[in-house]
Amino acid sequence: MEGTNRQLRLARRPVGMVDDDTFELVEEPLRALEPGEYLVRTVYLSIDPTNRVWIREEPSYLPPVAIGEVMRGGTIGEVVESRNDAFPVGIAVLGMLGWQDYAIGGGDVLARPVPPGVPLQQMMSVFGTTGVTAYFGMLDVAKPQPGETVVVSGAAGATGSVAGQIAKIQGARVIGIAGTPDKCSWLTGELGFDHAVNYRTEDVGARLDELCPDGIDVFFDNVGGAILDAVLRRLALGARLALCGAISTYNEEDQPPPIHWYMNLVVQRARMQGFLVLDYLDRFPEAVLALVEWVGAGRIHWRDHIVEGLESAPRALNMLFTGENTGKLMVRVGPDPAG
Ligand SMILES: NC(=O)c1ccc[n+]([C@@H]2O[C@H](COP(=O)([O-])OP(=O)(O)OC[C@H]3O[C@@H](n4cnc5c(N)ncnc54)[C@H](OP(=O)(O)O)[C@@H]3O)[C@@H](O)[C@H]2O)c1
Repeated sequence: MEGTNRQLRLARRPVGMVDDDTFELVEEPLRALEPGEYLVRTVYLSIDPTNRVWIREEPSYLPPVAIGEVMRGGTIGEVVESRNDAFPVGIAVLGMLGWQDYAIGGGDVLARPVPPGVPLQQMMSVFGTTGVTAYFGMLDVAKPQPGETVVVSGAAGATGSVAGQIAKIQGARVIGIAGTPDKCSWLTGELGFDHAVNYRTEDVGARLDELCPDGIDVFFDNVGGAILDAVLRRLALGARLALCGAISTYNEEDQPPPIHWYMNLVVQRARMQGFLVLDYLDRFPEAVLALVEWVGAGRIHWRDHIVEGLESAPRALNMLFTGENTGKLMVRVGPDPAG
């Protein structure tokens, strides 16, 4: 196909939040496809806290994005040209195809078809990586039991909101921690959480003392730092802590502040376990099936937050750290496929 591809390439490693100098918008002509390749037009770009981790110097669970490389990112797009029978023109595909208008799939660049009939936005949010992360983190790692007290940090976000609702479905009592009154009202209203704590305006420790007089059985942590410490101090016997992420630390250059109350893990015979959704790739269908059933039954609600235009991706990334996003954050790079 003739045309131009716009790409956001990493120009320099940021200190703190990303800024106008972090990425460079580059245009280059599309090249002809080789046999086995297919051209994907990006429709939605997933904006994830881990994007910020990937542009740090130090290696994480994936190697850092190199300077000059197209920014790594999860995408959903439409195949618009193909020399691969398994990826015909017109199908939608999911993949890690990066911050660009078009990507060439095939060879080392992997994508998989979106199941027919699933709206693309939902495939990126409630049935996407964040929904699946919530499923495995809650059910495979934390394992809440009926009547137990579950606390979720980052509770109004894409992952936390689904995690808390899954704990409710298991019969637990659920307390969400979030950063605005609107988010807290959403948690205790539409989502059915038992309580919500606004960490920006309330004393989290004092509120947890009030709401969890017998301690915390399960903690699903998206935030780390002081909130993790406040929970560690209030563990119940046999507590389980599922460490999903630590967004409070991703923009920091310095070592994170010390965790003071880890000794409570010993005292309360508790288990703290980190997990990565990537380790569950072969079990994704199990999670998606369960989520589809719960959504269909009206037991799981979610929000999508759409920002328009590829060039907005860096600004969108910062929204995750200021809390401006309400729900799963994604950038609409191009129009939804017809039909
Ligand atoms: N382990 C895995 O495989 C895996 C997979 C996906 C995501 N994750 C992790 O899951 C977490 C949530 O990711 P997401 O994609 O669902 O994003 P999200 O929760 O939709 O958005 C991030 C939210 O984090 C909150 N936040 C930002 N800075 C904060 C701070 N300093 N203290 C407290 N809260 C803060 C903000 O909400 P407020 O307005 O409430 O502050 C913001 O809306 C992240 O830690 C991410 O790395 C892990």
